[in-house]
Amino acid sequence: MKIGIVGTGTMGTGIAQVAARAGHQVFLYDARPEVGQKALAHIAQALQKEIEKGRMIATEADALMQRIAWIDALEKMRPCNWVIEAIVEDLVAKKAVFTALEEIVSTDCILATNTSSLSVSAIAASCRRPERVLGIHFFNPVPVMQLVELIPAVQTAADLIDPIKEELLRWNKIPVIAKDTPGFIVNRIARPYYTEALRMLDEGIADCATIDLAMTSLGGFRMGPFLLMDFIGHDVNFRVTEGLYQSCYQEPRYRPSFSQKRLFEAGYWGKKTGRGFYDYSKNLPVASADQTLLQQIFKRILLMLINEAADAQYWKIASPEDLDLAMTKGMNFPKGLLQWADEWGIEACVRGLDELYSHYHEERYRCSMGLRKKVRN
Ligand SMILES: NC(=O)c1ccc[n+]([C@@H]2O[C@H](COP(=O)([O-])OP(=O)(O)OC[C@H]3O[C@@H](n4cnc5c(N)ncnc54)[C@H](O)[C@@H]3O)[C@@H](O)[C@H]2O)c1
Repeated sequence: MKIGIVGTGTMGTGIAQVAARAGHQVFLYDARPEVGQKALAHIAQALQKEIEKGRMIATEADALMQRIAWIDALEKMRPCNWVIEAIVEDLVAKKAVFTALEEIVSTDCILATNTSSLSVSAIAASCRRPERVLGIHFFNPVPVMQLVELIPAVQTAADLIDPIKEELLRWNKIPVIAKDTPGFIVNRIARPYYTEALRMLDEGIADCATIDLAMTSLGGFRMGPFLLMDFIGHDVNFRVTEGLYQSCYQEPRYRPSFSQKRLFEAGYWGKKTGRGFYDYSKNLPVASADQTLLQQIFKRILLMLINEAADAQYWKIASPEDLDLAMTKGMNFPKGLLQWADEWGIEACVRGLDELYSHYHEERYRCSMGLRKKVRN
């Protein structure tokens, strides 16, 4: 197949690498021509590392590079079977690209957006043939992260998804299907990992290091929430939370924290700026070893995560299998949240949430009907 990539920044470059690795011919286009050389150099460097690790041989890497071509005009996307857009996260800019592409490619070419937060249906509406438009949401770094969320727009043809799913399996990806709703699966369901940790910090229940320790030592999460937020960057993580909060009509579960907003405003964006919740010029602070406190923190964050997953199941954001797969493959969670709920016992989860709700009397802590319903089943 011939795959076109529009926008060759972080994501476009990664998508190009995996598409070429799967044997496809790839056309790269970016509004800034200087980015093209950078993208090719970046892929060559990534392949060199693969060779050094013994995962690829030099002739394979050469052949892969031969399959990637830089093009200096969108018109040269004409022979493509798929075009994946990975430009700046801006609805007006994305719509303009889709409208222009439609005039160039054949009528059966699939047009995909890698948007993280925009409505795929709104992007598809810019096309005369919106039935061939969908979201294909890759995760960063694309060559490493196996999860891909497939998001049919309301206009997408029903028979489009299965062949794309099959093709992505050949790219060594794990595709899941998500409804076109804010945050799709991962960016929505993972939210309490950050927001509930921030809430406990803001309430003075524990410090960052203690909350991080609770999640890594008791939950088996690879990184605690504060270290993870610092790693992602507060410029990105804060904006995602704020975007989700606004697009879900101020859903209290997603309300951003002023502590994180101030870090964002101060330019303390985390590891990449040397300072975020932690100061990376110093040793990380020591956590409390109070086991009761650690248990309380772990239980509260996990309950909120489970509630979020059950709520997504209730609102048919994805199938239960895909919800769990998305969290293990897209967030590296040690276990799927619905599986965790079953292991903990649904009644215990409902009881834990009801206790939080009766303590705070806040909508944020309401137990999802999705969880309550599981008790009755
Ligand atoms: N970075 C992530 O972790 C991540 C993860 C998943 C999805 N996404 C989504 O992927 C998309 C790209 O993100 P990124 O992080 O790769 O951004 P980026 O800033 O690294 O790259 C965007 C590229 O698009 C180019 N561009 C901008 N407008 C263009 C236009 N009209 N035509 C052609 N090229 C244009 C820019 O020159 C730039 O090279 C966004 O929609 C983002 O939300 C990002």
